[in-house]
Amino acid sequence: MSKSKIFDTALFVELSEGLPRQGPGSTEATLRALSMVHRLPARPRILDIGCGPGAQTIDLAHATGGEIVALDNRQRFLDEMLARAAKAGVASQIKPVCGSMFEMEFADQSFDLIWSEGAIYIMGFGTGLRACRRFIKPGGSTVVSELTWLTDNPPAEARDRWAQEYPAMRTIAANTQIASDAGYENVRTFVLPANDWWTNYYGPGEARLVEVRARHAGEVETIALLDDFRREYDLFRAHSNAYGYVFYVMRKTA
Ligand SMILES: C[S@@+](CC[C@H](N)C(=O)[O-])C[C@H]1O[C@@H](n2cnc3c(N)ncnc32)[C@H](O)[C@@H]1O
Repeated sequence: MSKSKIFDTALFVELSEGLPRQGPGSTEATLRALSMVHRLPARPRILDIGCGPGAQTIDLAHATGGEIVALDNRQRFLDEMLARAAKAGVASQIKPVCGSMFEMEFADQSFDLIWSEGAIYIMGFGTGLRACRRFIKPGGSTVVSELTWLTDNPPAEARDRWAQEYPAMRTIAANTQIASDAGYENVRTFVLPANDWWTNYYGPGEARLVEVRARHAGEVETIALLDDFRREYDLFRAHSNAYGYVFYVMRKTA
């Protein structure tokens, strides 16, 4: 059974509500990627696509002093993001937009920077990068993190699982070429450390899974689904050298 089938179900809310992140990442990685952006102006205008509960939104607001348009199609994540931003003292810098990344209606060339951690895959890496391009000011940049093969020959267990869950996963070299074909240059990359999966994402997710599993004891289908989630954690434990999240930092070509 595919994990994506439970999005927008009550079970998904149980599994994800209140967790720090909805994908691998860390403040350190966000700031590292930000430091690689070419000539960011003071107080930039930034679009954060698929902001989720907003860990990176808040980091970007703090680090740049800019205005962040935070786009997500789930109001509950925007609500979590706004509550956290208020606590962090950056809510006035963040404009939440509840809508789909497939129907973005921002003005052309209106952002200095487009950011998307763990969400560009929803449009598809190349399609998403092409969709972003028109909204970026001349000389502006796009930064995304994307699940990526770290080897040309992944172990069968990892290859088979991701062939089901994310068949479009590619290597860094292939994605760099796609970025270049989509109208970007100076593509720079780095791999997130395995800790960036565990500390704020898989770790809290796995702890929540144990609680939710206990609550649903005896519900055969739900337990099977939850056990399939657990296999994803175990797969990463075994094969974190074969795939990982990679940041791609790139400048819009003139
Ligand atoms: C894997 S999560 C990443 C969230 C966040 N960037 C993070 O790293 O914690 C993907 C996010 O994209 C949002 N999303 C899914 N489909 C979307 C769409 N069509 N338009 C906008 N956001 C979408 C989800 O609600 C979720 O918050």
